[in-house]
Formats: sequence, C-alpha cells, structure tokens
Amino acid sequence: MHGAGRTVKADSPRWAGVLGRATLMTAASLAVISAGCAGQPRAKGDAPSASLEQPSREFRAHHAEVLEHLGHVDAMAARLPRESSTEQRQTMQRVVGFFKEHIGPHALDEERVLYPAVRQRAGDGNRITEVPIYEHRIVERWIADLEAEAAKSSPDAASFSEKAVHLVGLLRAHFEVEEQVLLPILDATMTPEEFKREIGDRMAH
Ligand SMILES: [Fe+2]
Ligand SMILES: [Fe+2]
Repeated sequence: MHGAGRTVKADSPRWAGVLGRATLMTAASLAVISAGCAGQPRAKGDAPSASLEQPSREFRAHHAEVLEHLGHVDAMAARLPRESSTEQRQTMQRVVGFFKEHIGPHALDEERVLYPAVRQRAGDGNRITEVPIYEHRIVERWIADLEAEAAKSSPDAASFSEKAVHLVGLLRAHFEVEEQVLLPILDATMTPEEFKREIGDRMAH
C-alpha cells in the first residue's frame, strides 16, 4: 500500500475517453503539422467522455491533442508516395520533426513521472508498466529509422510512408492502453490535486 490511495485492479475500465482541448503542447510546432493537413477530421477515438472531476482529465486532453495531430501525420505519410521529390523531403522532415519533438519527450516524461506513480499505486511487485515501457523503446527505434531514411540522399518514400503509418497505428494502440489500463489506476487512487502536483505539473510534454 502506498501514499494516500488504495490499490486497484488494472483492468477496471472505470474511466475512458478523451476531452476537449489540451494546453500542454507547443502550439507553433503543432501548427506546422496542422498546416500540412488542413481538412483532416479530428481523431477522437471511440471511448466515451470522462467526468470533469477525473484526476487525469488534463493528461487525457493532452493525449487527445497528440492523437489529433497523429491523424494529420497519418494522412501526410499516406500521401507521401504521390508527392514530388521536393515535397517528399519536406513532408518527411515534418513527420520526423513531430515524432522527435512530441512523441519521444512525452514517453520519457511518462517513464520519469507517470509510470512510477502507476507502479506505486498498482501494488507491490506489479510489473504493469513493463510492456508500455518496451513499446516506448520500439517507438524510439522506429523514429530513428524514419529519421535515417529521411536523411538519405535518395530516401525511399514508400518505405518511409509505410513505417510512419505503422508507427501511428502503434501509438494509437499504446495511447489507448495508457488511457484504459494505466490511468484508471490513478483516477481511482488520487485526487485531482494530487494528480496535478505529482504528475501534471512535472510533465513537460
Ligand atoms: Fe507512452
Ligand atoms: Fe502517453
């Protein structure tokens, strides 16, 4: 038993879904992604909305904003093979830039702040964050692969496109696991104030 909360089962689907607008993301860099994909529908996911009192509300809102932009990246990557070589270079730089600026740092923040809080409240000896941490390493490896492809003198646009689309799919699944399996543990054991102090205020990305 740890802290002020109680231990809960990780599979409790008590909270689900995403909310409105996030406040944590760098607006300028996201605007670059949005500008490249005007008219793309917002990717909201299938889960119902969460309670306003939900401790992880802001965190989930940040996820929602990242997912929205991942939808844009998905569309950009999918049409990459049909672009001119000049456009392809620009698109690949944008896609890699988004992943490096927002996905990589978010994952590291989670491992520094969010996951330890989940482990603490999930009970002694649990290994609940091992799989999502391993997924972070896969994500980092694929981002590095994309960066290396984009840096080639003659990058393979089709290969880049396929890998980027796959990475978006992996990230969508990974985010859903965090929202449906990990965050409910904190929502059930923390107050909104505790979540903000211990996690929200310490997550830079
Ligand atoms: Fe993550
Ligand atoms: Fe996340």
